Amino acid sequence: MNILITGATRGIGKAIADVNIKMGHQIFASGRNEELLKCYENYCACDLATIEGMQKLGEHIQANNIEVLVNNAGEFLYTPALKGFEIKDLEHITKLNLEAPLYLASKAIPYMKKQGFGRIINIGSISGVMGEANASLYSATKAGLIGATKALALELAEFGITVNTINPGWVDTDLGNSSCDDSDFSKEEIVECIPQRRFVSPSEIAGMVKYLISEEAKGVTGQSINLCAGLSVGY
Ligand SMILES: NC(=O)c1ccc[n+]([C@@H]2O[C@H](COP(=O)([O-])OP(=O)(O)OC[C@H]3O[C@@H](n4cnc5c(N)ncnc54)[C@H](OP(=O)(O)O)[C@@H]3O)[C@@H](O)[C@H]2O)c1
Repeated sequence: MNILITGATRGIGKAIADVNIKMGHQIFASGRNEELLKCYENYCACDLATIEGMQKLGEHIQANNIEVLVNNAGEFLYTPALKGFEIKDLEHITKLNLEAPLYLASKAIPYMKKQGFGRIINIGSISGVMGEANASLYSATKAGLIGATKALALELAEFGITVNTINPGWVDTDLGNSSCDDSDFSKEEIVECIPQRRFVSPSEIAGMVKYLISEEAKGVTGQSINLCAGLSVGY
């Protein structure tokens, strides 16, 4: 299968690419860091927080018969509301975390519809399910993905296209560790609040993606799947 993964240069996206390369799938990778992208046969370097970057990747999708789109690229922003929000932060996080996934999905859907098969998988966050203090902009973009997932799943169900969002809790990546640094709590204190007392590993998210792509998951659509070591359940 032709699988496009955004944010495949490191972290969760890299783990998703590794698993699918092992499965024999053709990977189309994107990110900003061209040096890191060179480990892939097919890649598109672009900044998805810009309209030009979205359009460039949209054209790449249309040119490559993409059957599976994994909208993974994203950033966390520490934005205490008491300090006031900057317009540039609002625009940046909304473009990257919400607008780009929707725009790219719209570019992938026509080929998927023609094939009668497609998978759109968004990487959301548990912060879009639960509230996260000092991260309302990030939480809002991730909650937006959940709403869009349900709407798209309804629109595309009759064409064999499924749409789902995976909501990771704390994951051991650059983003996970730097958002710990932004937090008022130490990593040890954060781990104490997670029911399984651990961060999720990127390979666990990749395993869920592998399942959602599979034939067995064809009936799973419009879902928001929490993969968070129990964080969403309470403590
Ligand atoms: N780690 C966690 O604890 C956690 C928890 C919940 C949800 N998530 C979500 O999981 C996804 C992946 O996060 P991660 O932890 O793997 O983060 P990461 O290690 O920081 O990797 C982020 C990826 O996104 C790409 N990216 C970032 N900004 C971009 C931009 N402006 N344009 C294009 N690509 C961009 C990066 O590539 P370049 O640097 O090459 O551009 C990189 O490949 C994100 O959507 C994040 O919100 C993560």
